[in-house]
Amino acid sequence: MKTTISQVHKHVGEEVTIGAWLANKRSSGKIAFLQLRDGTGFIQGVVVKAEVDEETFALAKSMTQESSLYVTGTVSEDSRSPFGYELQVKSLELIHEAVDYPITPKEHGPEFLLDHRHLWLRSKRQHAIMKIRNEIIRSTYEFFNTHGYTKIDPPILTGSSAEGTTELFHTKYFEEDAYLSQSGQLYMEAAAMAFGKVFSFGPTFRAEKSKTRRHLIEFWMIEPEMAFMDHEDNLEVQEQYVSHVIQSVLENCKLELQALERDTTQLEKIQAPFPRITYGDAIKLLKEKGFDDIEWGDDFGAPHETAIAESYDKPVFITHFPLDIKAFYMKPDPENPDVALCADLIAPEGYGEIIGGSQRIDDLDLMKQRYAEHELGEDAYKWYLELRQYGSVPHSGFGLGLERTVAWITGTEHVRETIPFPRLLNRLYP
Ligand code: 4AD
Ligand code: MG
Repeated sequence: MKTTISQVHKHVGEEVTIGAWLANKRSSGKIAFLQLRDGTGFIQGVVVKAEVDEETFALAKSMTQESSLYVTGTVSEDSRSPFGYELQVKSLELIHEAVDYPITPKEHGPEFLLDHRHLWLRSKRQHAIMKIRNEIIRSTYEFFNTHGYTKIDPPILTGSSAEGTTELFHTKYFEEDAYLSQSGQLYMEAAAMAFGKVFSFGPTFRAEKSKTRRHLIEFWMIEPEMAFMDHEDNLEVQEQYVSHVIQSVLENCKLELQALERDTTQLEKIQAPFPRITYGDAIKLLKEKGFDDIEWGDDFGAPHETAIAESYDKPVFITHFPLDIKAFYMKPDPENPDVALCADLIAPEGYGEIIGGSQRIDDLDLMKQRYAEHELGEDAYKWYLELRQYGSVPHSGFGLGLERTVAWITGTEHVRETIPFPRLLNRLYP
């Protein structure tokens, strides 16, 4: 019977056939150990010379790395492997013999691996990262679908900027100018006025000349937007959502976390509520930690975020940033109009900002004033201003960067490994 590696636990003692690739192998004169993968998982196939025909044993010994095959054998339990099962091979059928697979079990440098990303995805570590990415996406939909949100898809080709004009990718749209979306937020605000609570999940683009371990040119963002919710309500949604995602990964990706050697005790602590610190207090904390140069009004860089996060073992909200260093749409705090009703959520263990969010300006005149201050032409945003003209309500939302979240949960140093085909400053291949 044909099955997959993920299903072998249902067939202990039975003979099964699996379509697979040869990830690695070891052999001696009498026995061969085949490390097999089929996309659903990894399993060891044991070929004993005395128990198979000559042809099968010869094939097991000669088969090259990444050759594809049908393998038939009996499933047995194997307490020594973390996976728990093994295949006692009866016969092998070669589908295609691979030639000189470039990624060998030895170490390769990151540029070499990125040049071979289309093949690198097959390796155990990359497989585990992508499976966890998938579980984060699955549990995201689960969370928002069970909390009354409607998924709405904002456009990717847009006529104006959502976050600031310096990071836009420009393209022609017939006779007009168009830009690739940096954020779906403005459209999600329109959607929130139509559906109450909404969320989006899609690619976003930033023409940033940043070459850090946290920056991609193309990344995926989850952007919820909620009518009748203020700054405090917004933070509560975020901490519940992030906790749900972490707990889902812990529950459903045990083998993957193990393959990555992730210290899960750090993740187990991630339960709402999360601590909050104001920007002003964060500046004080940084000064105490020896950042003498930082002054009120400065934006935080990676070292600052890491230093703040070190004081907590959960993600921490930094709230009430100066209005001047944040986006035009953020609502000023009525009690102190120099700061915004906003928060960045900083992940523990040095992974940096994973969420940016805020309560939005709902007053038409104030929004127009902010447009003038930011020198944004009102024409392109006419529709956005109209949202403040017809039954404007308090509303809030946020954007979670998927790749930074994957990096944190999987314990991956650089975001380039957290997306199937990374787009980096110097990389558009493969
Ligand atoms: O803080 P950002 O720029 O916020 C927005 O775009 C808002 N409009 C979101 C909203 O309120 N709906 O981006 C949100 C998150 C960041 O916290 C970070 O996790 C991620 O997106 N991010 C990036 N991830 C990878 N590479 C980049 N270049 C990123 N820029 C932002
Ligand atoms: Mg931000």
